[in-house]
Amino acid sequence: MASLPKSTTVVPILILLAASLCLALPSSKDPVPAAWPHQFHSILMMNYTGTLELIDLWYDWPNGRNFNIIRHQLGSVTYDLEWNNGTSFVYTLDSARECKTAHLEVGILRPDWLDGARYVGRRLVDGGFLCDVWEKADFITYYEDVDTNRPVHWVFYTGREAHVMTFEVGAVLEDAKWQAPVYCFDNKKTDTVPEAEAEAEYSITGASMDGGFLKGSNLLGFSL
Ligand SMILES: *[C@@H]1O[C@H](CO)[C@@H](O)[C@H](O)[C@H]1NC(C)=O
Ligand SMILES: *[C@@H]1O[C@H](CO)[C@@H](O)[C@H](O)[C@H]1NC(C)=O
Repeated sequence: MASLPKSTTVVPILILLAASLCLALPSSKDPVPAAWPHQFHSILMMNYTGTLELIDLWYDWPNGRNFNIIRHQLGSVTYDLEWNNGTSFVYTLDSARECKTAHLEVGILRPDWLDGARYVGRRLVDGGFLCDVWEKADFITYYEDVDTNRPVHWVFYTGREAHVMTFEVGAVLEDAKWQAPVYCFDNKKTDTVPEAEAEAEYSITGASMDGGFLKGSNLLGFSL
């Protein structure tokens, strides 16, 4: 009998504990996006209100570098080479010999950059891929294939959208291709983007949202 007061207080506490666990269950069961493979090559079809581009994306986290090779439809090719020290080179390889250099506070996207994204459910996208969908910082909506966990599609808040056409895990572009042309290092020919201007350019595209988690990276093909 002496133990009665003890057990009457223990039972409500257990009920409260069980109730709070139940409340926590739905969100803890939400799928989380797969981290990006540390090295991959992807061909992306970009569409920004009908303007199309084809991007070769070479993501290379161990070597701290990321490359977007951007083909404008029936037009020029822009090379956007980013280093994890914050330096980006944006250049052409044609007779114009143009190169812009930007120095940004933040390097390339981390493989876990999608951590903390808010799960919004399942949707069919791009002609029939069943995807889990997340939103990150009101900035990007990201679609990942339910069966393969590969990215299929993402959309920036600006409406710029990427359709993932190929996704080759482990593919690495040879070192020689990562060399920016000599005119990127020739002060007479190099157009160094002042930091403020570069920041403005990125913020227009939304890259500087969410405490800068994407600032300085146009890895996802939104600043050009
Ligand atoms: C590109 O996006 C626009 C909407 O912004 C859409 O009308 C058009 O069909 C899309 N084009 C392609 C090739 O996906
Ligand atoms: C960052 O690394 C690249 C490649 O090694 C180099 O060309 C560039 O000068 C570096 N930038 C800084 C600020 O050190």
